[in-house]
Amino acid sequence: KDSLTVLGIESSCDDTAAAVVRAHGERGAILSSLVAGQADLHAAFGGVVPEIAARAHVEKIDSCVEAALDKAGMTLGAIDAIGVTAGPGLIGGVLAGVMCARGIAAATGLPLIGVNHLAGHALTPRLTHGLAFPYLMLLVSGGHCQFLMVEAADRFQRLGGTIDDAPGEAFDKVAKLLGLPQPGGPAVEAEARSGDASRFGFPRPLLDRPGCDLSFSGLKTAVLRARDALVEQQGGLTRQDRADLCAGFQEAVADVLAQKSRRALDIYMARSPASPAFAVAGGVAANQTIRERLIEAAGGVTFVAPPLSLCTDNAAMIAWAAAERLTAGEAPAPFVARPRWPLD
Ligand code: KG4
Ligand code: ZN
Repeated sequence: KDSLTVLGIESSCDDTAAAVVRAHGERGAILSSLVAGQADLHAAFGGVVPEIAARAHVEKIDSCVEAALDKAGMTLGAIDAIGVTAGPGLIGGVLAGVMCARGIAAATGLPLIGVNHLAGHALTPRLTHGLAFPYLMLLVSGGHCQFLMVEAADRFQRLGGTIDDAPGEAFDKVAKLLGLPQPGGPAVEAEARSGDASRFGFPRPLLDRPGCDLSFSGLKTAVLRARDALVEQQGGLTRQDRADLCAGFQEAVADVLAQKSRRALDIYMARSPASPAFAVAGGVAANQTIRERLIEAAGGVTFVAPPLSLCTDNAAMIAWAAAERLTAGEAPAPFVARPRWPLD
């Protein structure tokens, strides 16, 4: 058989997702990819509540899988293998997906692969753009921030990452402290359009230190301090103050990401890859200012950004990662669900 049809299941955070992907060797086609979010369930709590997330996954996962098969126009009989996120993530949610996958595997005898969620993000540019190994990947979302050298379907080298908050988390917190709606990223980006990025001298954390590690929590605190100083002086914030704070913050995040990307690119290029590429994934990659700065940082290196629906959490990336490992000749092996699971 020259193709592999894989059912993917993802439930490690607040999205319940199922997908069917068909892999022909190095190329893949998404036959269906469904994502059922839970934002409404968590909105009142100002963050994802693990217990509520796990329950919602249990409730939605079976119908999500059924709908993904339906949309792909097939039954389980046409599936060759199952890939499921086995971590890292909120363990209750991960277990809901793993139990669903194990149930289907037991009933059908299909091979089951436990996939690392981060590997799913990291391998997405192969599904969407057919990138060759090794490529450099920057994962920037609400939960992740790391530079990865992607060397093979099961081999990653982490060059650095955040030592505290993820950038998306910082965008969300800054939005909150300025009274803007959630998710904060798009709200802050919209405000920043009419702002002056140079008004506040926000810090560029960790640029003075070598390496590719990043930090964003001090930047968020700097925005908080600037806000409080304005409130004290003027009794509140004007529309322009808010825009300037957003623009300054966004510029600092973009600057730090761009400069650290240069360093990661230097390490990557020292390996003399045959077809060098720098890929991004994660919700923060939607930010236009950040994207422009990353493209600039990439210089002559091909810059790749998968469509946003595949940059954020989804199950197509999990199905694809499983397909890659099977294609590479890996035999399905027993695995456990893991809340923590570093890639290297
Ligand atoms: O990848 P994602 O959907 O979920 C995970 O974190 O796994 O990323 C969501 C994050 C949120 O923190 C959101 O505020 C941020 O991505 N985000 C943005 C933008 N759009 C979404 N951050 C900055 N600018 C944006 N335009
Ligand atoms: Zn993710």
